[in-house]
Amino acid sequence: MNREEKKRAAACAALEFVIPGEPVGVGTGSTANAFIEALGGIRGRIDAAVASSKETASRLAAAGIRVVDLNAVSDLPVYIDGADECTRHRHLIKGGGGALVREKIVAEAAGKFICIVDDSKRVERLGRFPLPIEVIPMARALVARKMVRLGGRPERRVGFLSDNGNEIIDIHDLDILDPPALEADLNQIPGVVANGIFARRGADVILMATEEGIESL
Ligand code: A5P
Repeated sequence: MNREEKKRAAACAALEFVIPGEPVGVGTGSTANAFIEALGGIRGRIDAAVASSKETASRLAAAGIRVVDLNAVSDLPVYIDGADECTRHRHLIKGGGGALVREKIVAEAAGKFICIVDDSKRVERLGRFPLPIEVIPMARALVARKMVRLGGRPERRVGFLSDNGNEIIDIHDLDILDPPALEADLNQIPGVVANGIFARRGADVILMATEEGIESL
């Protein structure tokens, strides 16, 4: 199986977590796009979808799926999304596509977070993938300097603004020994909107597509 086939396999495996008649949260990225395609095939069975980005909202609408605002939903049983890295502790790095803030909000609101990945995303320790941090634009240099003090190498995502109108800095070479602690610490820096460590609310289930089939963590 090539990588695209693995993404599709993980996406299809996630369909069994979709609860008939209920809304479903949908993530952002190429694996989430494969899930949207699969979800289109069963659109009559779901109530609606909550999107984690503008891009996902328009893809859902194009697949004939009703998109609703998170505020209009009293219960969101499940959220399905990809990740840039995952560990066996079900800690993740997300935000490669720049949708980390809304992804974190939808994941927090959901009863279950099902993460769909191909096996290239598996790591022993988070940090090989540069950690995205969404910042209020005026705080960019402040946050970047603090990241250098932590041993990281910040790189501004030039020409990119998030759906929330903010900037993203990608932090290379960070040693992420304690993901929940670093996630919380970074959130304390004024101007940080969110960081791409998903550990305090990690995935409940990771569906990882491998050569041997779907591995469930
Ligand atoms: C979007 O902001 C990200 O969190 C994506 O979920 C993550 O980057 C995974 O994307 P791919 O499925 O495209 O690898």
